[in-house]
Amino acid sequence: MVGVSLRRRMVPLGAALVWAVLLLGGPAAQSAPQPQRVAFALRRVTVHMPSSNAQFPAGAAQTLASSQCVICHSADMVLLQPRLRQAQWRTIIGKMRSVYGAPLPAADVDALAAYLAQVLPEGTH
Ligand code: HEC
Repeated sequence: MVGVSLRRRMVPLGAALVWAVLLLGGPAAQSAPQPQRVAFALRRVTVHMPSSNAQFPAGAAQTLASSQCVICHSADMVLLQPRLRQAQWRTIIGKMRSVYGAPLPAADVDALAAYLAQVLPEGTH
């Protein structure tokens, strides 16, 4: 009688032991890749990005340029280009829209291209 009841108690204990071995030390745990130790140190760096306060000159599409063409870069990116014709500006603005995703409405492209062809300061080329 004593032996039977002991054996009954031993079964769940044995099952638990098998599970523990499988979970903790089983083949999966042994073949798991060991994390590599990578030595690194964090340090503070200071980066000075070029800043620019350049403004688009007065003109018909100044507001358009000041709102649409400084979303991703400074006005200097536009103002320091060589003087270009309207058709060339149309091409560049088209690239800003189609390649980089500038949200300028298609209906505004011509007006902006005309403005940029007209107002870009002399001496920037
Ligand atoms: C409609 C207003 C507008 C004008 C005008 C404009 N951008 Fe750009 N622009 C860029 C990126 C990116 C470059 C850099 C391309 C490179 O370095 O090759 C760039 C470069 C330029 C250049 C340099 C010459 C060239 O062809 O790369 C000009 C000129 C220019 N942009 C004009 C992303 C934008 C974005 C982001 C969605 C907006 C908005 C944007 N641009 C709006 C405008």
